[in-house]
Formats: sequence, structure tokens, C-alpha cells
Amino acid sequence: MFFQPLFWTYLFFLFLIFIFLTNRISFHPPRGWGEVFWTFSWCSSFLLVQTGLSVIYLKNWDFAWSGLSFLPFSSLIFLSSIALWIAWMVVDHGVWKLIRLQPVQVKKIKTVKLRTNPKFVPPFGCLKKVGITNQIYLPQVVEYELKLEGWPKEWSGLTIVQVSDLHYGKFFPTAYYDGIIRQIKQLKPDLFAFTGDLINSKKDALAMKGLLKGFKAPLGVYAVLGNHDHGAGAEALTKALTQESIRVLDNEVVYRKRKGKTLAIMGASELWYGNRDRSIILNSKADAKLFLAHHPDHYFLGKKSGAHLQISGHTHGGQIRFPFLGPLIVPSNQGRKYAQGFYREKNTVLFVTNGIGCYPPLRTLCAPEIVKLVLKPA
Ligand SMILES: [Fe+2]
Repeated sequence: MFFQPLFWTYLFFLFLIFIFLTNRISFHPPRGWGEVFWTFSWCSSFLLVQTGLSVIYLKNWDFAWSGLSFLPFSSLIFLSSIALWIAWMVVDHGVWKLIRLQPVQVKKIKTVKLRTNPKFVPPFGCLKKVGITNQIYLPQVVEYELKLEGWPKEWSGLTIVQVSDLHYGKFFPTAYYDGIIRQIKQLKPDLFAFTGDLINSKKDALAMKGLLKGFKAPLGVYAVLGNHDHGAGAEALTKALTQESIRVLDNEVVYRKRKGKTLAIMGASELWYGNRDRSIILNSKADAKLFLAHHPDHYFLGKKSGAHLQISGHTHGGQIRFPFLGPLIVPSNQGRKYAQGFYREKNTVLFVTNGIGCYPPLRTLCAPEIVKLVLKPA
């Protein structure tokens, strides 16, 4: 059995289905321990059922093609359902990739490594022995020029710096944050955008008050909250950010004017815990629309509201990425589709950043990043 290619194909397919379902199903969280329990019970029940069925079924077959036709009817049904599932996943992904996704006109301008204190040593150092670098302390500023369909020329050259998923206070020393935030403040964009998951516990909300002091940009500094911010205390964090003149957008829109053309800066309330009244965003009228949303799963709202660009975080770019395979676990109802980078459906471009912090403290092939976007008309 172990020498039959079909056996390994079978295991691989089961693994794919497991990853697919984990990404789509286990990330509909009730709060707190309920979320942990739901994820754990879902994963273990899937593994138990699959193991049970596989053991029963292995008794009848050694995975040689010749033995396939002698299998009992029930085993054939089980195998066919796995094959159908895989076929459906391939078709679904194919339709998305070939039909729904449009090309994005984007060019990477430069990547600048931020300075960090070498005394910060990442955990999981033993992975170095197998050639894997834990990148958690290797933050970089990545600058892109992005051309958007329908973007007014009056707003050409608008620069945005996106800072996402700080996860302050969880795994990183505060001195690490102090050092990189100091450098981020000096990037001088037209607009700063924090796209959620700034903190992990209520006490960290107070720390934000000092840490984010002095962020300034001509068009303003904006934030939307993430799921961890809500778990920690949305009210305390909103208060702290507001005191530092950072405008928290909770299904709200701020308008700015340049040469008679209006820019709408729209911010989504958190997808799982926030408010569901999206009428202000959906009814906004502007020549240029920028949409801040913690979750890439808010793309439906970005498209529906006619945003030219949605910027999101939350997935950490997949965080632990493998060569060729990409990331396995991505907390999105869309599976691994919108894990990292640029996407375009209809005329709305979605950008998903790797963010800065992480959870657990391991990043592979997915460096922490701060992103500077220069927007131009296509
Ligand atoms: Fe998140």
C-alpha cells in the first residue's frame, strides 16, 4: 500500500479537503473560548471521521488500480465523493482565476528594510537548520505604484501608507514597536491607514495612546478595527486612537476635495463583531473611493460600494508560506484566495498586506511589511 502512488494521492486529496474546509468553515467565530472550541471540535471531528472511514476502507483495497473494480459499492461512493469534491475545488478556483480576476496594473518601486535592534532574536531558531528563517523581526517598507481604472487625474499621485496587524503586546517586546513606529512616522504619505488588529488585550489600548502619538498626514490618519481589537476592547481603543487624532471609521465615510474632485475615505466596521448598517458606505458619492477594511472578506462591500481600492490585512499574508504550496491556513471564508497581494474584480482592486505582527510568532516566506501605495489613473 505505501508504495502505491494512489495511496499518497488519496492522502493528499484528503489533506486538501481538510485545509479547504478549515479555511472556509472554522473561521466563523463565536467569541472567546467558543471560537477555540468550535475550531477544535470541527478539526478533530473531520479527522476522526476521515480516519475511521479510511481504515474501514483500507481493509478492502491496497490502492492498486487493478483492485479498484472489486471494491464494495459503499467504498466506491466514498472515493467518488472525494474525487467530485476535488473536481469542484479545481473548477471553483479555475473560474475565479480565469474569469473573475482581472489584471492589476501595479509596479513595485522599492523595498526598504527597517532598522531593528539585533538583540531581538526570533523564536523557532532551530528551523535555521533546515534552511527556514523566521522573519518576524525583518520588517520592510514596500512601495508600489498602482494604476486604478476610473481614478481621477486630480487625485493622481495620492500616497497612502498602510499599517496593519500590529498585534501589539502579544509576542514582541514594546521596544521593537517603538523602533519601527518611529520610522513609519517619517514616511510622510498624504494619508496613513491602520487596518486593524492593533492590540490583543484591553491594557494595550492605553499603550496605543503613547505609541501612536505624532502620526500626521495632510489628508488625515485613519483606522478601522479588527477582530482582535474587538476582543480586547473596541471602546477603549477607539478612545485612545481618537485622543491621538486618529479617526476611527466604523462604517463611516470622510470626504476630502482636490481641484473640485471628491475623495471618499470609507472605513468598514469589523466584519464579525461590528455593526451591520453599511448604508453610509453604500450611499457615498465621490469621484475617487478608498475603502479600509480589516478583513479581505469585506471585498463584497468594497465592490458593491464602487470603491476603486480596498486595503485590508487580517490574513498576515498567510504568515507561514511554503514554496509552491503557498500558505495552508488563511482565516478567510474565501479560503486561500485572498491571502496576500493585489486582486481585481470588476473595477475594484483589493490589496491584502502581510501586516507587521503575527500570531503565533513565526513567519516564513512572508516578511512583515508596511506598504506605501502611490495611486494613479490607469
Ligand atoms: Fe484579524
